[in-house]
Amino acid sequence: MPAQVMSVNGGAAQDLPAKLTGQVITCTIIAAFGGLMFGYDIGISGGVTSMDIFLKAFFPTVFVKKHHAKEDNYCKFDDQYLQLFTSSLYLAAVASSFFAARCCTRFGRRVTIQLASLFFLTGVVLNACAMNIAMLIIGRLFLGFGIGFGNQAVPLFISEIAPVRYRGGLNVCFQMLVTVGILCANVVNFFTAAHPWGWRISLGGAAIPALFLALGSLVIVETPTSLIERGHTEKGFATLQKIRGVRDVQKEYDEIVYATELSKQIKHPFKNLMKRSSRPQVVCSMILQVFQQFTGINVIMFYAPVLFQTMGFGSDASLLSAVVTGSVNSLATLVAVFGVDKLGRRLLLIEAAVQMLIAQVTTGVILLLFLKSTNELPKKYAYVVLFLICFFVSGFAWSWGPLGWLIPSEIFPLEIRTSGFFCAVSMNMIFTFIIAQAFLTMLCHMRAGIFFFFAVWIVIMGIYAYSFLPETKGIPIDEMNEKAWKKHWFWKRYFNQDRDQSPDKA
Ligand code: BGC
Repeated sequence: MPAQVMSVNGGAAQDLPAKLTGQVITCTIIAAFGGLMFGYDIGISGGVTSMDIFLKAFFPTVFVKKHHAKEDNYCKFDDQYLQLFTSSLYLAAVASSFFAARCCTRFGRRVTIQLASLFFLTGVVLNACAMNIAMLIIGRLFLGFGIGFGNQAVPLFISEIAPVRYRGGLNVCFQMLVTVGILCANVVNFFTAAHPWGWRISLGGAAIPALFLALGSLVIVETPTSLIERGHTEKGFATLQKIRGVRDVQKEYDEIVYATELSKQIKHPFKNLMKRSSRPQVVCSMILQVFQQFTGINVIMFYAPVLFQTMGFGSDASLLSAVVTGSVNSLATLVAVFGVDKLGRRLLLIEAAVQMLIAQVTTGVILLLFLKSTNELPKKYAYVVLFLICFFVSGFAWSWGPLGWLIPSEIFPLEIRTSGFFCAVSMNMIFTFIIAQAFLTMLCHMRAGIFFFFAVWIVIMGIYAYSFLPETKGIPIDEMNEKAWKKHWFWKRYFNQDRDQSPDKA
């Protein structure tokens, strides 16, 4: 009876009695601190890797290059180890998310979140006390395990505890806190830059969200879906009553039981992803993550201070500029929170592609004309570039940033939703790793051309959003195949000719 499952996920939200209870709000805020940990990490490494005292201690060759008067502007930070410091975290996150997905199913979302905070705390201690590069990198790996576990469990957790009609808004809290985390990291870097222990304070600051998450995860409830899935049906029912704030939760309970029964029949969810009828959603969710990273956003998030120093801003001014871009990122995310259900996904993605293209091309042209190997970018142009970067970041923040997470979470049919979302998460981490690892070398070799490289990608993703992405605004997630994919001029062929539609239950 697929119709029953349909209503669980939004087909008839009004049929499922639920209040937006204090408990749901509290649990969402606590869990979203996983996003803050993620964001803090994204933002902290760029500032730390531009601190002289940190470079002197761990990357002396980069330190020497940076202060060498004749050193090429574009190459002074090019060092594989320095990049490994930033990127190792994402490699660990990809590897650990495989285990995180299993842990989520076997032991529940709450335990997975608790493990995330423990991994994270271990990583923070190793990093803040690091005496050598090995401690630094191992610390980053632990942080990566934390991110892998957190990013797999937190969005799932929020989706499962949120009442249907508030699910979208509550979900965006995760991305909102990612941006707040990045901003906090930029502010912390700004104030600690001159301190002899600056980098230790900056890296150690990650302990605050991790501790908050660790303590908070003792308070949060386990999701009813996870409890029911693991056989604790009575507890699942009681939890549902508690978080919904109403006694009459029988319908929602029955639907969760039905959905769990259905998904239990699927022995090979990953095999199901290979089916022809899964291809549109799989391709779309993975490609959105690739595109999200190839906007070039993390070049700014990771390396903003380094990038600004390349353009001739002093260390302080560079960190301050990173604070400015971080603030723009957070504020512009609010546009997505309020706009995404009114304006639609495609409009935001296409508008932002045009906006980001203008920013990347103009930045590239200015650097090409005015930033040579050893000069400083004239101040007035440096400020224009800062403005352009803010223009770029705001476009990303109301489109490819949040929608890169939102769309993959709403386009999969139930039986492949978790495995499909897992593909999107790992794709994000792999491409974040690639950008983090390759950017400084690419900057050194491609110089200002790097901005044109991202511009080409932005054109491709704009065309993709215009031609290949169906609009999903206002469509209940279990009606997505019928109302979005099967009506799409290109993707409908994957359903029409599908000879093998039934999920794999072998
Ligand atoms: C992306 C991150 C990015 C952040 C910037 C997230 O959606 O996944 O890679 O750094 O947005 O706000």
